[in-house]
Amino acid sequence: MPIDQHEFRAALAKFASGVTVVTTKDAEGRFHGITVSAFSSVSLDPPLVMICIEKTAGSHDALIGSATFVVNVLSQSQAAVSERFATQIQDKFRGVEFNPGIEGVPVLAGCLVNLECRVQNFYDGGDHSLFVGRVEKATIMDGSPLVYFHGNYRALTD
Ligand SMILES: Cc1cc2nc3c(=O)[nH]c(=O)nc-3n(C[C@H](O)[C@H](O)[C@H](O)COP(=O)(O)O)c2cc1C
Repeated sequence: MPIDQHEFRAALAKFASGVTVVTTKDAEGRFHGITVSAFSSVSLDPPLVMICIEKTAGSHDALIGSATFVVNVLSQSQAAVSERFATQIQDKFRGVEFNPGIEGVPVLAGCLVNLECRVQNFYDGGDHSLFVGRVEKATIMDGSPLVYFHGNYRALTD
């Protein structure tokens, strides 16, 4: 018997993760960004990472049509950035500091890590799509990560 959806969500909420904002640029040059916790490393050689994006998300089709994306790993102080990019609003980038990265895709400031990726492939994953990106550049900063657990933002404590 298939697992009950409520129970499945409750089970997944027990997995602590970091929080990223994935940014991209569509064919018309418009910027898109979406808060994503479904991020994983895939391969060291070649350097591959993966993100899972809901098919109904506004950013989904932009990613399908784009050759590049940036995974911005948020730092502890960036919960507001996570909330902004998790909300369907018109101009997500207003008031957000960023610089142009790979193919002009926004690289958010103040993050722990920015991974500039070229889309290697994408796959069907039920109501999500899996995007595999080849990392071309990593910018690494000191600091603590923003953590998401059981529906809340947390801080790492030693
Ligand atoms: C902490 C957190 C993690 C999230 N992780 C994902 C994720 O991994 N994949 C996804 O598709 N949506 C994820 N979401 C939901 C999207 O960020 C949200 O649906 C967003 O509004 C989509 O924006 P868009 O429709 O403008 O692209 C997450 C939201 C939060 C708050």
